[in-house]
Amino acid sequence: MQDRRREWLAAIATVADETALAQVESRLLGKKGELQELLRSVSQLDKSERPAAGKALNELKQDVEAALAARRATVSAQSMERELAATGFDPSQPGPRRRIGSLHPITIVQQELVDLFTSMGFSWQDGPEVETEHYNFDALNIPGDHPARESQDTFWLDDGNLLRTHTSPVQVRTLRRFAKDFQPPLKVIVPGRCFRAETVDKSHEHTFYQMEGLVVDRKVSVANLIHTMKTCLRVVLGRQDLKVRLRPGFFPFVEPGFELDVNCPFCGGKGCSVCKQSGWIEILPCGMVHPNVLRQGGIDPEQYTGFAFGMGLQRVVMLRYGIDDIRLFMGGDLRFLRQFPTVSK
Ligand code: DAH
Repeated sequence: MQDRRREWLAAIATVADETALAQVESRLLGKKGELQELLRSVSQLDKSERPAAGKALNELKQDVEAALAARRATVSAQSMERELAATGFDPSQPGPRRRIGSLHPITIVQQELVDLFTSMGFSWQDGPEVETEHYNFDALNIPGDHPARESQDTFWLDDGNLLRTHTSPVQVRTLRRFAKDFQPPLKVIVPGRCFRAETVDKSHEHTFYQMEGLVVDRKVSVANLIHTMKTCLRVVLGRQDLKVRLRPGFFPFVEPGFELDVNCPFCGGKGCSVCKQSGWIEILPCGMVHPNVLRQGGIDPEQYTGFAFGMGLQRVVMLRYGIDDIRLFMGGDLRFLRQFPTVSK
């Protein structure tokens, strides 16, 4: 029996792969295997010898099983190593790092603006991106034959609606909603996506973001408008020494209407290529809400006045980060997008 044991354990120890191991296992422990043969021979022994022989065979079986299990572990580890060596894979190297996305620069600036304006008592209003001709144009004092429609060429839908060309339609929508039980002051901002049928180039996009602002109360004046804009731009452009100036600008839904400029944050007003040597940068259009628009919103212009502004978010983001091509925002170039933080401040 000792010879058998030595021979079997040696056979197991020299097996090189899993197939050979399975063959040895069935030769030794299989139904027609050598161990079964030995067990059968026990019955031919003398009765007194049978228990001892049976016990010895049982121990042999356990030893063989243990040796097979140990060899199986070794052989499979070796075959794994061979496989890994062939592919050049190194399991001790760290895994690929998970990429965390970053915030889009327009999102960053929009969030900052929303935080700032809500801290000044404004509330956030939303409006539909698919707008009616009425709210997008007529209610804003831009009738069908008005030349101002030319500058806002847009995408019309088959049902006569359109993709809104600006966030201003939400002015009248909001006024109407508030008009029923109007509690002045009304202070809202409307960040949102707008569309125009533009030929895309360095400074024009067919899809862009604006943030509309609207304040209506008794005795609202241009002074309030200037103060609000100064506060907002100082925070967004990060400069305390920011100056603003108003130039006349025409928009049918404001009277008077203005173009608001800031002293160039790049040269401090001395003149540089960004401000085209003028020292000033045009930042946003604004004005005092036209009485017709207040009327459209159900507000009595004899009692109330208001100011409004329409900020082009891309423009502010470009100034803030020194970006010179508007197409980068929609271009999906990850090298551009990865430069921005993953979470807001
Ligand atoms: N909605 C105008 C545009 O996109 C911008 C604008 C001008 C908005 C004057 C205003 C404003 O609220 O008062 O061209």
